[in-house]
Amino acid sequence: MASGHEKQPHAVCVPAPLQGHINPMLKLAKILHSKGFLITFVNTEFNHQRLLRSQGSDAQSSFPSFHFETIPDGLPPPKNLDASQDIPSLAKSTDETCLEPFKNLLTKVSASYSPVTCIVSDFLMGFTLDAATELGIPEILLWTSGAGSLICYDQYQNLLGKGLMPLKDSSYLVNGYLDTVVDFIPTMSGIRLKDFPPFIRIIYPGDEYMVTFFKKQIERAKMASAIIFNTFRELESDIFDTLSSMFPPCYGIVPFHILEDKIADKSLASIKSNLWKEEPECLKWLDSKPPLSVMYVNFGSIAVMTPQQLVEFCWGLAKSNYPFLWIIRPDLVVGDSAMLPPEFLEETGDRGFLAGWCPQEQVLNHPSIGGFLTHSGWNSTIESISSGVPMICWPFFADQQTNCWLSCNKWGVALEINNDVKSEEVKMLVIELMTGEKGNVMRKNAMGWKEKAEKACASSSGSSMDDLGKLIHLMETLSK
Ligand code: UDX
Repeated sequence: MASGHEKQPHAVCVPAPLQGHINPMLKLAKILHSKGFLITFVNTEFNHQRLLRSQGSDAQSSFPSFHFETIPDGLPPPKNLDASQDIPSLAKSTDETCLEPFKNLLTKVSASYSPVTCIVSDFLMGFTLDAATELGIPEILLWTSGAGSLICYDQYQNLLGKGLMPLKDSSYLVNGYLDTVVDFIPTMSGIRLKDFPPFIRIIYPGDEYMVTFFKKQIERAKMASAIIFNTFRELESDIFDTLSSMFPPCYGIVPFHILEDKIADKSLASIKSNLWKEEPECLKWLDSKPPLSVMYVNFGSIAVMTPQQLVEFCWGLAKSNYPFLWIIRPDLVVGDSAMLPPEFLEETGDRGFLAGWCPQEQVLNHPSIGGFLTHSGWNSTIESISSGVPMICWPFFADQQTNCWLSCNKWGVALEINNDVKSEEVKMLVIELMTGEKGNVMRKNAMGWKEKAEKACASSSGSSMDDLGKLIHLMETLSK
C-alpha cells in the first residue's frame, strides 16, 4: 500500500468489450482499488452506452480514485443496443484501431489524475502491450478464462502442424472424426479434438482470423510482466504449473466474487457491469421453492441457438417435471426474438420462471438451486463450482468446449449434452443430475470444490490471497 508521502499507484484496467470479460476485470479493479490503487476503467463507447442503459448513470459515474473512461471499438455503431457484436470483427477492429486512442487516453488520464504506473489489460486486448512498450509502462494481463483453455489455444499450431486440423469439410463435424483422442497435450490426457476451442476447425467465416488472432495474442503475452488467471490454484494445479514454465509469472486469484465480497470497498458495490437489465424478482420466486429442487438454465451472453433447439430445451425441461429458472436473453435465438411454444407455457405454469437477465452469483448461491444447465462459459463454470452446484453442459464456442471437458472429466462436476440437442436427452440428464446416483456424486464433488474455493480466499493461508499479495507486491515494485 502506498504510504502517505508516496504517489498513489495508478492502474488502467482494460477489459475486452464482452460481458464475460468486463465482469472479471471490474471485480479485479475493485480488488486492486481496495489495495490502494487509483483505477481508471476503460470501456468501449458502445458498451458504455449499454451499461448506462442497464444500470443507470450512477453505475458509471466516478468515485474517489475509481474513474471510467471510453475508447471507440472501431466498428460502425450497431443498429440497436441489444445487437450483439460479431466476435471476429470486434477482435480485428480493436486490434487494428484501438492503439492510438488508447495511447491518447493514457496521456490524458496521466495528466488529469496521476501518472499511470501500470496497465492491467485483457489478454485479448494485445494492442495495450504495444502502447505499454512504447510508453515504458509495465503491463499485467488478465486471462479471463481457466488455465486449461490457454493450453488448448497454445496447441493450435501443433494441431495444424500434425494435419489434425482444419476439418476437411463440414461432414467432419458429424462423422465421428472430432471424437479422436489427442494424446500429446500436457496435463489434458484423454482430451478429444471436439474439446478444443472450435475456431481451429476453420469451418465458419471468421475462424481463420481468430486462429491468427489467438496466436498473435499468445506471442504478445510473453512481453507482459505477469499473467493473472481467472482460476484458483487447487482447481488447475497441474495445468497451472505447466503454464508457469511457458509464460511470465502466473497468478490465480479467484473466485473474484468471494474476494470482492471480502476485501473490496463497499462504497463501490453500486458499480456493476451488466450489459442487460437484471431482473431480481427471480430470487423471490426461488425463495418459494424447496432446497435443491430448481434447475437453473442460462446460456450466458453470446451463445445463440436455433428455434428448433429452443423447442427441444423447452420440452426437455417440461418433461423432467422439475421447477426451472430459465434466463432467455432478447438475442438468445437466431433471427427473431425467442418464441416459446404456448403449450409449453401452459403445461409448466408456475413450475417455470422466465427472465431476460438475472443476478447469477446470487442465483447460484440460492439454496433452492439443484443444478445448472449452462453453455460452459468460464465465468459461469467457476461461479457454479465455487457455489457447489453441479452442471449440465451444452458448450457453444470459444473456450466452452474445453471448460465442458474439464468439468465432466477432470473435476467430476458435470454431464454433457449432445450438441444435436433432443428433448428426451435433456429430460434424462436433468433427472440424473437432480436425483440420480451420478448427480449425487457430482453434487458432492462440487461441494468439495466450493470448500477449496473458500479456503483459497481465506485471509491467512489461502492460495488466492497469497497470489494476490505477491501480485500487489510486484505491481508496487513495477510502479516505482
Ligand atoms: C464469454 C465466452 O462465452 C466464455 O466462454 C468466455 O469464457 C468468456 O466470455 P459468456 O458467454 O458471457 O462469456 O459466459 P460467461 O463466461 O459464463 O460469463 C457470463 C457472465 O455474465 C457471468 O459472470 C455471469 O454471472 C453473468 N451473467 C450471465 C449474469 O450476471 N446474469 C445472467 O443472466 C447471465
